[in-house]
Amino acid sequence: MSKDKTVFVCQNCGYVSPKWAGKCSNCNSWNSFIEEVLVKEDKTKKNTSSVNPGNPVAIHDIVQNVFFRMKMHYSELDRVLGGGLVPGSLVLLGGEPGIGKSTLVLQSVLNLAGTKILYISGEESETQIKLRAERIGINNPDCFIYTETNIEKILATIKSLCPDIVVIDSIQTVASADLSSSPGTVSQIRECARQLQEYAKESATPIILIGHINKDGDIAGPMSLEHIVDVVLQFEGDNNHFYRLLRPKKNRFGSTYEIGVFEMAGNGLKEITDPGNILISGDNTGLSGVAFGTIAEGSRTFLIEIQSLAANAVFSTPQRNATGFDTRRFQMLLAVIEKRLGLKLIQKDIFLNIAGGLKISDPAADLAVISAVISSYFDKPVKENSCFIGEVGLSGQIRPVSFIEKRVGEAIRLGFDKIYISSSQKSEIKNGNSKLTAVTDIKDFATKLFK
Ligand code: TYD
Ligand code: MG
Repeated sequence: MSKDKTVFVCQNCGYVSPKWAGKCSNCNSWNSFIEEVLVKEDKTKKNTSSVNPGNPVAIHDIVQNVFFRMKMHYSELDRVLGGGLVPGSLVLLGGEPGIGKSTLVLQSVLNLAGTKILYISGEESETQIKLRAERIGINNPDCFIYTETNIEKILATIKSLCPDIVVIDSIQTVASADLSSSPGTVSQIRECARQLQEYAKESATPIILIGHINKDGDIAGPMSLEHIVDVVLQFEGDNNHFYRLLRPKKNRFGSTYEIGVFEMAGNGLKEITDPGNILISGDNTGLSGVAFGTIAEGSRTFLIEIQSLAANAVFSTPQRNATGFDTRRFQMLLAVIEKRLGLKLIQKDIFLNIAGGLKISDPAADLAVISAVISSYFDKPVKENSCFIGEVGLSGQIRPVSFIEKRVGEAIRLGFDKIYISSSQKSEIKNGNSKLTAVTDIKDFATKLFK
């Protein structure tokens, strides 16, 4: 079979070149050429007058389908998908290698008894997948495994098997024989995803694509894939920890607000439906440098444990190191402590860690970060069962945060009885007023922290 002719097109200006080049000779942009299959012009279609017009529908006449959704066995997965998998949708699941993407998808489809699954793997052999499946437990005999990387063969197989759900593990390993570029390149990923999308839409079969992310946290070929697919989910967590968070980055059929929580165990992933206190490690009584805060994720609130260590600086430039927290924000908070409380942080190396391997961005955790640092600086534990909820401003004031009532309620439910909040929000709390300590600014807060 002769190969289709391909050309390289500059993604910046549209200049076409027969060969790849690092720099576009037309617009001078670098690394912008992408290989594309040349579509032969069909002479019969040249005259537009011979084309039959389409049928646009008045917006009032469109019948709205209530999406039928396929349940994926795990409520945490369904929650993130917006209630289940929508037929004909293309779902991209991204995450770092080893985080558990293959496990999550395989585990879900292995439990969907009565649903025909085609799991296509370009990464593992059939026996490797069987081994993993046995570890997880097989409850769906209609799960077919196919190891192949050629997209044309994959599509032919899908069309002959007609599965209810297709899984491609991973999109970076599949390639079209029409393109000369190697698998994993933007042009290959885009072309394969396009062909799969075409099939998904015409057959109403949902397809789950697994994708690796690059060092910057983007799914390789990000722009090209994210606008093609309907749902983008990101699986994250720390390889050395057991918890995994599933976050939607884009969802055409639901909100991107919810997150799913899982735990990696010896026999696969376990969903955590009440994640309130999972991120809090054992007994911390009497330890300095530990403080608890809250983060709001979707409709749920989590308690988080923040650990800090302020040690005498080794070099003349002190180190500031934050894991799971934005380093710039951390430095800003340290500057606020230094300026408003007069602590000599310049002489200290300061480390910050969010327990459980979580990455957080909720400003409501500021007050807990500050508490952990001050506690470590003075080597004095904060009061037992304290929880700190508040954003810290540059002038040192403790600012109000979103969902305050929910956060306070969750902290009380989990046994915290000394909850620090911004004084401007005290009136918003109806239950548990006796457990609240209202603080106006960081100076006021420092006087109440150890008492
Ligand atoms: P995997 O799903 O292969 O990751 P990905 O597809 O994202 O690259 O999962 C890899 C890790 O999960 C691996 O290091 C082992 C661990 N694991 C468990 O701890 N328990 C299990 O039951 C399974 C199947 C995997
Ligand atoms: Mg994998």
